[in-house]
Amino acid sequence: MRASRIHAFGQPDIIVIDEVAVPTPGEGEVLVKVHAAGVGPWDSWIRTGNSALPQPLPLTLGSDLSGVITELGDGVTDFAVGDEIYGVTNPQFTGACAEYAVASAGMIARKPRSVTHVEAASVPVVANTAWQMLFEHAGLVSGQSVLILGGAGNVGGYAVQFARRKGLRVIATGFAGQLDELRRLGADQAVAVDGAQVDDFTGSVDAVIDTIGGVWQSRSMKMVKSGGILVSAVSPPDVNAAEALGIRTLFFLVKVNTSALAEIATIIDHAELKPRVGLVLPMTELIRAHEFLERIRKPQPQGKIVIDVLDA
Ligand SMILES: NC(=O)c1ccc[n+]([C@@H]2O[C@H](COP(=O)([O-])OP(=O)(O)OC[C@H]3O[C@@H](n4cnc5c(N)ncnc54)[C@H](OP(=O)(O)O)[C@@H]3O)[C@@H](O)[C@H]2O)c1
Repeated sequence: MRASRIHAFGQPDIIVIDEVAVPTPGEGEVLVKVHAAGVGPWDSWIRTGNSALPQPLPLTLGSDLSGVITELGDGVTDFAVGDEIYGVTNPQFTGACAEYAVASAGMIARKPRSVTHVEAASVPVVANTAWQMLFEHAGLVSGQSVLILGGAGNVGGYAVQFARRKGLRVIATGFAGQLDELRRLGADQAVAVDGAQVDDFTGSVDAVIDTIGGVWQSRSMKMVKSGGILVSAVSPPDVNAAEALGIRTLFFLVKVNTSALAEIATIIDHAELKPRVGLVLPMTELIRAHEFLERIRKPQPQGKIVIDVLDA
């Protein structure tokens, strides 16, 4: 089979397509004929050798996938050969960008029926991240308010949609050119980060959902009501600053799991959530996809980059 691999860490042009053996699923795993694979910022950390996890070389890039199960490993009872699934390959976040991939059965679910494999492959990591930030870590409930930093991005775009659907008051930040997109996604208030308006929200939200980090993470702490929380997907917030303001903070790594994926698939099939695909490329153009991740290529697609593995 063909697989998009790296043999050393480096710039996007380190990526090659190799002919390799089809992998065998182990206990608790399935073999998937991959139709589409998503591309995200964590792929760039892995490619450059900056992953938080050990990544032995050579490795096949990619974690988000959508496809059809062709073989079951020992102990897998919740899926059958022929099932259309979507999800993530494994906790290392590798192996998806190939004609076949092994995936952990605990990190996949049945694909939403109403969307294509390309659309489904755009969902898993970023939608799970947004879901866990809002509901598992911030514990937000209907009627509360949330400030989403970077609401037009991939994690942020799902956070805005989920928050709106839950009945939260949603304030979302983006660049001036992203404000229409923020409103279209469901933000009650779309705030340009390059304007002064952000400071109007001091002490007014129950939670900040941070997909940006840096100066915006620190600046947004004072927007949180006393007793509220700032959840970051990017970097650990300054605990001392948070304590002084009487707010909680959390940095976390997403745990993609079958139950969240199944729930998200149901929401998509009820037409209450739209996958956001910004650019579809064949596997031969994974280098180009990584050049977008590195901001070498611009403008950035609004929505996820997906590799259509069936497009030879
Ligand atoms: N902890 C975890 O488990 C986990 C899981 C998934 C993702 N992440 C991390 O979460 C972050 C977001 O991921 P993503 O896939 O959503 O990335 P993304 O799609 O690039 O989203 C970031 C968005 O924020 C916009 N932006 C940049 N600077 C901004 C600012 N100062 N204010 C407002 N918006 C700004 C970007 O606009 P432009 O595109 O125009 O620059 C883009 O729309 C990344 O750091 C990623 O590595 C962490």
